[in-house]
Order: sequence, then C-alpha cells, then structure tokens
Amino acid sequence: MKEQVVWITGASSGLGLHTARALARHGFRVAAGARSFGNGKTVEGCRCLPLDVTDPDSMDAFCREAEAAFGPPDILVNCAGMLILGACESYPAEELRQVMETNFFGQAAMISRALPLMRKRGHGRIVNFSSINGLLGIPFEGAYTASKHAVEGYSECLALEVKPFGIEVMLVEPGDHRSGSRAYRCHSAGITPDSPYKAHFDLGTARIAHDEENGSDPDKLGERIAKALEKRRLPRRLRVASADQRLAVILHDVLPAWAFDRIIGSYYRKSL
Ligand SMILES: NC(=O)c1ccc[n+]([C@@H]2O[C@H](COP(=O)([O-])OP(=O)(O)OC[C@H]3O[C@@H](n4cnc5c(N)ncnc54)[C@H](OP(=O)(O)O)[C@@H]3O)[C@@H](O)[C@H]2O)c1
Repeated sequence: MKEQVVWITGASSGLGLHTARALARHGFRVAAGARSFGNGKTVEGCRCLPLDVTDPDSMDAFCREAEAAFGPPDILVNCAGMLILGACESYPAEELRQVMETNFFGQAAMISRALPLMRKRGHGRIVNFSSINGLLGIPFEGAYTASKHAVEGYSECLALEVKPFGIEVMLVEPGDHRSGSRAYRCHSAGITPDSPYKAHFDLGTARIAHDEENGSDPDKLGERIAKALEKRRLPRRLRVASADQRLAVILHDVLPAWAFDRIIGSYYRKSL
C-alpha cells in the first residue's frame, strides 16, 4: 500500500491540510492542490500545486503536473469545500451556485479527470468529503447541506458504476472539527440587519462557530483516513463525529420529523 500516489484537493487548510500531512507521514506520495498553493504556501512532505476546482483549466493543469510529478493517481481525495451561512429564503442564486460549484461540481469534475487514469490500470480509490450535514439539515446551512446531500447521492451511484473496474469509493462524514478557517464560512448577503431571520441567524451561527471551535482533533481524522487507505477494503462510509452528532443521525432516521425538528430547532435557538 505504501508509495501509492494520492491527489488531494483543498489541502491548504483544515481537514484537507491535516489529511495531506497524515498521508505523507504514512508514506503516500501526495500531490496536494488548493488555490493558495499558487502563492507559495506549502505543506510538508507534499508536492503542492495550484488548483481551483471551479476552473476547468486549473483542474487540467493540476492533473497534468501531478501526473508528471508522481505518475497517475491511485487515490483521489476530494476535500475542497466552503460554506455560506444564510437563510434558504434569501440566498442569492449566485451564493447557492458558488457553494454547489466548489463542494459538488468540483468533486465531480475532479473525479471525471482521475477516473480514466484509474480505469486504465484496473484499480483506484476515490474519497469524497461529505459531512454529518450530508445526512441531516441544521438551520442556516441550507446551501452547504444541499451540496453535501448531492455528494452523498452521487458517491453512492458512482460506487456502483466503478466497482466493475476495480475502483472503490469512500465517503468521509466528519462532525465538527477544529481548525477549519473562518475564511471559508461566509455570511450570506441575504442576511441584512432587518432580515426576519436575523435574530435566529445570530444565535444559530454563534452555536455553529462554538461547536466547530470546540470540535474534534483534525489530526485524528487525517490518521483515520490514512489508516483506512492502508486497508485492503475501504468502508463505504467513514463517519468521524462526536457521540452526540452520531446520535443526531440516528434520531433523524427514527424519530418523527416534528420531534426531531423540535430538538434541533431549540438547540440552534438557544443562547450560548
Ligand atoms: N471542519 C469541519 O468541522 C468539517 C465538518 C464536516 C465536513 N467538513 C468538510 O471537510 C472539508 C474541509 O473543511 P475544513 O473546514 O476542514 O477546511 P477549511 O479550513 O474550510 O478549508 C477549505 C479548503 O478548501 C479549499 N478550497 C476552497 N475553495 C476551493 C476551490 N475553489 N478550489 C480548490 N480548493 C478550494 C481551501 O483552499 P484555498 O482557499 O487555498 O483554495 C481550503 O484548503 C470540506 O469539504 C468540509 O465540507 C469539515
């Protein structure tokens, strides 16, 4: 398993950065992509290349350079992501598109580029970052949650299609983790001072920021991914979340909607 080639997106910050470092420590040859790698930023043990997953030319250049550096990928890790906090009613269409472009279309576009190289060699692994929000919704994460639900559905279909070519797919479903950058957690232009959602938005987003700042250790998630990639078989889902977030997923599936909404709604309307 060692010496396998990994292409990883979104590796300049947060979970992508910690995953890239863990993979390099485990002996994988890592081609790491992010937009800020064009500005001289680097990650120890990785070949850092500029990559914008919303720009076809940038993705083509990344694939060319990564292949020239290490050869074709054995593994693609799609981690690039962003979040715009806002109310479903008032998201400008452009913001919805921006989140979908990065979190979903960006993953799909990287997969379309890596898959022919994997199929040709009869093996490969695709790791798509989803989230607990790929499984349930919380207030003011409508755009992000939609994109992560898209990732979940797409990945399930993909896994069925590529299995005959010897290619496996794993969804990573993190709960709250420390170290994500505030730069990728914008507030929607639709939340104006006189928005009817403003009071609940302020309470909800304070809770979201608090939970992330007090979230799990990102290094441990990187290690979990590296260890999963060293195994003979990949699990379909790697859920790395606190006990209460795992419980929320179970309650979401077993409780009637009114009961689940009451629990989640009051949690995000409660002052810290
Ligand atoms: N942190 C958490 O608690 C948490 C929980 C669940 C799921 N996740 C998922 O984990 C992943 C990482 O999130 P994070 O919060 O840990 O990290 P983060 O600090 O938000 O970093 C986001 C990364 O994505 C890259 N990125 C953003 N737009 C990009 C684009 N257009 N092209 C290429 N790269 C782009 C950024 O790099 P550049 O700006 O340099 O391009 C950066 O490396 C995301 O998919 C997120 O949804 C995180």
